[in-house]
Amino acid sequence: MVVIPVAVFVLVFLLTRPLFTKVTRRPVQEPEQKEETQTEEILDTDTAVVKAASDDMKGAPGWNVSDSGWWYLNDDMTTFTGGWKTIDGQRYYFKDSGYMATGWVNTGTVKDSYFDSYGILDTSKQQKLVALTYDDGPSANTDKVLDALEKYGAKATFFVVGMQADYYTSQLQREYDLGMEIGNHSYTHPWLNQLTPDEIDEELGHDDDVISKVTGSAPALVRPTGGGISANVIESINRPLIQWDVDTLDWEHLDADQTYDRAMRLVQDGSIILMHDLFAPSADCADRMISSLQEAGYKLVTVSELAEAYGYDLEPGGQYYAFYPGGCEENRTKQQGLDEIYDA
Ligand code: NI
Repeated sequence: MVVIPVAVFVLVFLLTRPLFTKVTRRPVQEPEQKEETQTEEILDTDTAVVKAASDDMKGAPGWNVSDSGWWYLNDDMTTFTGGWKTIDGQRYYFKDSGYMATGWVNTGTVKDSYFDSYGILDTSKQQKLVALTYDDGPSANTDKVLDALEKYGAKATFFVVGMQADYYTSQLQREYDLGMEIGNHSYTHPWLNQLTPDEIDEELGHDDDVISKVTGSAPALVRPTGGGISANVIESINRPLIQWDVDTLDWEHLDADQTYDRAMRLVQDGSIILMHDLFAPSADCADRMISSLQEAGYKLVTVSELAEAYGYDLEPGGQYYAFYPGGCEENRTKQQGLDEIYDA
């Protein structure tokens, strides 16, 4: 996104409980007719494994409870563990321990599912998803971003510049170790849309080499520098080109409050937010931005996870501004629309 003079790169380089009681519980509700936003697998397939109940899980057939939670005993004193199970027409999820899950639960899909205090799946509660993206690093500020992501169990995508990664290799390693997605953002950050196909190959190939040394493979995704596109960029990169729908303009104002405010004001379900871990103010607002997004009902995922969750196929040479639920065409025009509204 940013045109960074070589001098800036050089400068950054330099500075740088238990009664077992059978309980007749709960009003068994009729399953409500709800929006079918969950996958069929979740709606139809029982994945829970039947196991002998542990010593902690004594009781009578049916639902039982202790301070540790609820569990379900079959007539043969087996119990359900580690997956989905339909009981009396309701969907439940059992933890590996055999206890019934409540609240937001990761069931193995990108989106978490919500189970009420009775453990019943509530599909009216849907998580929103967002992909934070950080460009132009790694840098001396990257660890602050990673600290915040790690603290809140969040994921982000880093579009890495190779010459930065040559110097800040431990930060790149930490991005990878924490399960962040790594994307290609060229080796020296030239305007790719002003280069020949051979020059583009050289820039991306060199960046692939630097990243592969840490991750073991070339990145699947590319963010063109400055979001700049040309026929050569589309044809020679031959990988999905990841743009954004929320521009924090962090590179321009270099202000943590403005970066936070723009992200929180413009974000919607399926957004890709553009930021730069090259700059200290962008790292300084990472902690409160991540906690505020989570409080607002967002799960922070990688770009690839976001596309997968909302059913988008990523095609080589395709440009992607966002992955809104249930719509493709809108993604191509959304960014422009937002800029007109908020930057006028
Ligand atoms: Ni950039």
